[in-house]
Amino acid sequence: MRLQGKRALLIGAATGIGRACAEDFARHGARIAIADINRAGLREAVGLVNAQGAQAHGLDCDVCDEASVHDAVHEAERLLGGLDTLVFLAGLMRVGKVDAFEAETWERIFAVNARGTFLAAKYGAPALRRAGGGSITTTASLAGLRGAPGMTAYAAAKGAVIAFTTALAQELAPDNIRVNAVLPGWIDTPFNGPAIDYMGGDALHSEIVRRAIPLGRQGVPSEVSPMYVFLASEEARYITAKAMMVDGGMAH
Ligand SMILES: NC(=O)c1ccc[n+]([C@@H]2O[C@H](COP(=O)([O-])OP(=O)(O)OC[C@H]3O[C@@H](n4cnc5c(N)ncnc54)[C@H](O)[C@@H]3O)[C@@H](O)[C@H]2O)c1
Repeated sequence: MRLQGKRALLIGAATGIGRACAEDFARHGARIAIADINRAGLREAVGLVNAQGAQAHGLDCDVCDEASVHDAVHEAERLLGGLDTLVFLAGLMRVGKVDAFEAETWERIFAVNARGTFLAAKYGAPALRRAGGGSITTTASLAGLRGAPGMTAYAAAKGAVIAFTTALAQELAPDNIRVNAVLPGWIDTPFNGPAIDYMGGDALHSEIVRRAIPLGRQGVPSEVSPMYVFLASEEARYITAKAMMVDGGMAH
């Protein structure tokens, strides 16, 4: 029960890694609100968590819309009676060669991954301050450090998330708010479908994964969520401004 008594808002947690985080946060005693644009996924995630005996709240939220992020943060704070932890997981990936890449797609990728992270922090930080401090965990990617062919937009947006996280950690440290990023490697969710197609399909992707990852396989969401639990817990109270990789050893 590492998060007993914590009140957490998880944004972009209807499916995949976020859903695993929601389940883990609730299992560790946190009271949670989940915000996402995917209403069906949100209902399912809230149902799953509450089937374990929790009382999670589901909030409709589009992280590209400033008013929507504002409302989700304030509603979560109201429902939970305050906010100790904000976790931002919403993400969008599109792939393609740079000379064929639409500027609108580039902007959309930045809107969800980078601008969304900013908006969550913009409204989340005051809520955490009102609670006397807390933690923000963002979600970047190994791609934000190393890039990959076809991923210029996604890599640039996740690189921006890493830089933003480092700057924000320094800015909010005097308020007793820690800020860290989680950098997943290859985690087995449908999110990677476009990247796998770009790499030439499942067989080629499996071969690349075997060669590039020392542990020899992709991770699964429940192998990444413990890092988010740890960063939100008291055990991480001296950890801030860090980029925590969960990647099977891919970056070495
Ligand atoms: N799967 C991987 O290998 C991998 C690797 C590195 C980083 N990541 C990052 O991890 C995070 C979770 O990815 P995942 O693999 O679980 O994929 P996912 O698609 O299951 O999760 C992304 C979530 O973001 C939500 N979302 C997207 N646009 C949104 C918007 N406009 N407003 C609100 N919510 C929105 C989706 O509905 C979904 O619930 C993402 O930020 C992704 O970039 C994933």
